[in-house]
Amino acid sequence: MNLDFSQIVPYIPFMLKGIGATLKFVSISILVGFILGTILALCKITNKPVLKWFAAAYTSIFRGTPLILQLMIIYFAIPQLTGYDIDGFLAAILAFGLNSAAYVSEIIRAGIMAVDHGQTEAAEALGIPYKPMMLNIILPQAIKNILPALMNEFITLTKESAIVSTIGYLDLMRRAQIVGADLYRNFEPLLVAGLIYWIMVVILTKIGSMVERRMRYSD
Ligand code: ARG
Repeated sequence: MNLDFSQIVPYIPFMLKGIGATLKFVSISILVGFILGTILALCKITNKPVLKWFAAAYTSIFRGTPLILQLMIIYFAIPQLTGYDIDGFLAAILAFGLNSAAYVSEIIRAGIMAVDHGQTEAAEALGIPYKPMMLNIILPQAIKNILPALMNEFITLTKESAIVSTIGYLDLMRRAQIVGADLYRNFEPLLVAGLIYWIMVVILTKIGSMVERRMRYSD
């Protein structure tokens, strides 16, 4: 057994900076995913075949290929075509946001479907147009089913975020690797990174259960 945590103490501030770097792009990605996912979910439940087809194809592609591949295509392959060097932060937001939109669209679609159909019928009977019906009647009720699952998506993205280390983005994972290479010891920095990821997930889980409780409260 050859463990020595004293050596990584000077590197702790460097590693902690990774928390901000990770959370920053994950929260922007979840926002991008939520906005795109809502649009896609609405496309899935309309009766316009083109929109339905587009949303289904989008979901199939983004859920059917590895996230790391999507990230690599955005970071390495697209610049080869456009000649424009995309920066790691933007590539990460794009890859995670676009990928998450596919998952979020299913969450939102299911959340909307779970709202009793009588609500739509009643709104239609009252002559309420589609947009205010969706915005003021259906979506506020659907949010209850959606938020806990959305929190789960946040947790998934937080853990998956570690793959941005492969494009050199200085997130928590990449920082742990750098410290490992500097010290010629990998166990300690990886253990510290693992602990930090776990704490982040525990906190997000706690927030998730709080949100869920708050949602049930209004029942
Ligand atoms: N490892 C999975 C993949 O590569 C993660 C997908 C991301 N999941 C998500 N809920 N956004 O496909």
